[in-house]
Amino acid sequence: MNATQEKLKVQLEQAIVAAFGPDFAGVDPILVSASNPKFGDYQANVALSLSKKKGLQPRAIAGAIVDKLDVSEICEPPEIAGPGFINLKLKTPYLEAQLNAIQADPRLGVPAAKTPKREIVDFSSPNIAKEMHVGHLRSTIIGDSIARILEFLGHDVLRLNHVGDWGTQFGMLIAYLREVYPDALTTANALDIGDLVSFYRKAKLRFDEDAAFQETARQEVVRLQAGAEDTLHAWKLLCEQSRREFQIIYELLDIKLIERGESFYNPLLSGVVEDLDKSGLLVENQGAKCVFLEGFTNREGEPLPLIVQKSDGGYNYATTDLASLRYRIQQDEAKRIIYVTDAGQGNHFAQFFQVARKAGWIPDDVELVHVPFGLVLGEDGRRYRTRSGDSVRLRDLLDEAVSRAHADLKSRLQKEERQETEEFINEVARVVGISAVKYADLSQNRTSNYIFSYDKMLDLKGNTAPYMLYVYARIHGISRKGNINFKELGNNAVLLQHETELALAKYLLQLDEVISSVEQDLLPNRLCEYLFELSQKFNQFYDRCPILQAEEPQRTSRLVLCDLTARTLKLGLSLLGIQVLERM
Ligand code: ARG
Repeated sequence: MNATQEKLKVQLEQAIVAAFGPDFAGVDPILVSASNPKFGDYQANVALSLSKKKGLQPRAIAGAIVDKLDVSEICEPPEIAGPGFINLKLKTPYLEAQLNAIQADPRLGVPAAKTPKREIVDFSSPNIAKEMHVGHLRSTIIGDSIARILEFLGHDVLRLNHVGDWGTQFGMLIAYLREVYPDALTTANALDIGDLVSFYRKAKLRFDEDAAFQETARQEVVRLQAGAEDTLHAWKLLCEQSRREFQIIYELLDIKLIERGESFYNPLLSGVVEDLDKSGLLVENQGAKCVFLEGFTNREGEPLPLIVQKSDGGYNYATTDLASLRYRIQQDEAKRIIYVTDAGQGNHFAQFFQVARKAGWIPDDVELVHVPFGLVLGEDGRRYRTRSGDSVRLRDLLDEAVSRAHADLKSRLQKEERQETEEFINEVARVVGISAVKYADLSQNRTSNYIFSYDKMLDLKGNTAPYMLYVYARIHGISRKGNINFKELGNNAVLLQHETELALAKYLLQLDEVISSVEQDLLPNRLCEYLFELSQKFNQFYDRCPILQAEEPQRTSRLVLCDLTARTLKLGLSLLGIQVLERM
């Protein structure tokens, strides 16, 4: 709800009480956006629901409320329509004043949160020595955008990378490393074992075919857990190499993250099991320690257990998540913890959330949220892979997007007979390519699967990043052409006459509403939709209203609309992790 809606709501509530007495305090006026702009901007539907209670016709109720309603500063005289809707149409001078106010506001009318909270966004979180795949790409892009939005609202955000850097797979990797790079375990130097993914594959092959090797691998796990120096050294080398590879992706995508991998919580795992035992939840089942779950059953309809300690004494993914959850509540003092992973992990989150709640570890003021997302599909509708069937390396994917953007730009420059420096071309291609990938992901409702298509995401005419970057650059083109400094337009210049000006103006004033909806529902696609629609409204205005050619005072007013649109795009895109270009 934006500031205007809030004001209207208060006035309506007061009018209801004035009309029907104090018993009606707190009745929701049911204020919604008008279904059709013909009827105004908002409508209050309360009369329909009050009519039963009062035994009166809804139109009579609406009339009684309108008699007492004072919204003359904000709206035209209210009208009663249909069975009893109260239609409200914003006054033009009110809209002009609102726009003048946001023009002077670097936050464009979006207030900071009244009560800033400590929030954790757990995102990206790839696994050491394994590939960072397109699923991690989604987590990285979506998590980063959520974090940016919460930060902009003034929350105290901890961006955590819960890297998979611990577990029995390290026994196999270290045993293999010892075989093929015996020196690596003792030298202080960083190691370059080439492609870690193929290293992992080779180690796995070795593991699968040789029982003696399996035993060595198991011993390495024991040594790792006991903190044996050479084993620990090997583990660190593997982590460092992966980290360097992840870092390349984070830099390309401009992502900031604090690494706090699974190993960080290792010392806390036994405490989790002990405390579950103390609270009486722990059950031994075929040698494993577990907690039985409500609402989760196997095929036979029997309750499912969540295992927290395997029969060999090892802990698992869930134990680590329980430990990290406690740490985040107790040490980090988080009030909302947001986990961004693929939808396939939904059960995992529901299960350990349930166990933590039962154990009494979750205070009432702490919210746990799993933010799931769907799969990335190829144009054939199946999981996105390379032609040879391998999973796609993220670096290749991003490079490909940039090089296609580069080729598109070159051909456009040729058509327009424009000369640009190599430096300019490379920078534009980089921004366009990376933005296109990010926007294609963010603009989908994250819960659904989406089809990855370079052609679609780079299309200058679709609902894409390049389309919006182009609108932004076009506005800066106006300022270049007219030699206008947007910062020096002066205040109180807005004058709304043309219908496209009014439509754009009203839309510009909705940014706060959109951002607060993303704060709650964690759906960045809402912000994408808003920016796309804003771009379209701007283009309609631009097509219909001359700007530089207009007479004063219209000219300045229209330039203010241009400036506000550009600033809204820049801010909104920055919250999606997308950079803008003044020229492209
Ligand atoms: N490493 C996991 C994976 O690649 C994601 C971790 C998500 N975070 C968490 N706290 N479980 O699927």
